[in-house]
Amino acid sequence: MQIDVVTIFPDYLAPLELSLAGKARDKGLLDIRVHDLRGWTHDRHRTVDDTPYGGGAGMVMKPEPWGEALDDLGLDGATLVVTTPSGEPFTQALARELATRERLVFACGRYEGIDQRVLDEARTRTEVREISIGDYVLNGGEVAALAITEAVVRLLPGFMGNPESLAEESHEDGLLEYPVYTKPVSWRGHDVPPVLLSGDHAAIRAWRHEQAVRRTAERRPDLAHPSVLLDDVEVRLVQ
Ligand code: ADE
Repeated sequence: MQIDVVTIFPDYLAPLELSLAGKARDKGLLDIRVHDLRGWTHDRHRTVDDTPYGGGAGMVMKPEPWGEALDDLGLDGATLVVTTPSGEPFTQALARELATRERLVFACGRYEGIDQRVLDEARTRTEVREISIGDYVLNGGEVAALAITEAVVRLLPGFMGNPESLAEESHEDGLLEYPVYTKPVSWRGHDVPPVLLSGDHAAIRAWRHEQAVRRTAERRPDLAHPSVLLDDVEVRLVQ
């Protein structure tokens, strides 16, 4: 996979150079490049924003530098990912979908966002996804691009040493993951649940499922589909 990130704060993306992207790069799975949007400005102040038509607070990112940047990088065969709090929610399912793409180009917005025509024009040429990583507002899309990149890259075939560990994670089966324990058996007066020491694999599987259902129902009732809630009722009935 090739990933290009366009931002006015390239340093924000420095963590990409750390283990995750480095590991993927070493394995030949990933080619990441970070670009400074100001490199596509032509005025002395390297201006990337201007006041909004129609009035209102804040500034809007100008279309010209974005247009030139996307032309130079080329959008052929790429999915343009625009990180914005007004985008579609980022989920594990969307991470899986993006992991199938050959190339992602991230456009990190700042201020009140990017002039809408940049996205409209790009849509005539390629797939454009406006994506939010949660219902809160960050100062810009860089942290969102980092989060999305990390979630996607670890799903690339060949990235994970043990792909089975992916299957049991939170969100892969619509449930939050069950609690986990390691040695020692007793720590500061808290013991590992005895079932995990029993060697009874069916009992362990059932206990973990029950814990996952309980967590999901308690913490994320919005995730719990009817069968999960039904399971949870059963869990409560047998107590
Ligand atoms: N930019 C600012 N806030 C954001 C969010 N919640 N998700 C994606 N991009 C953003």
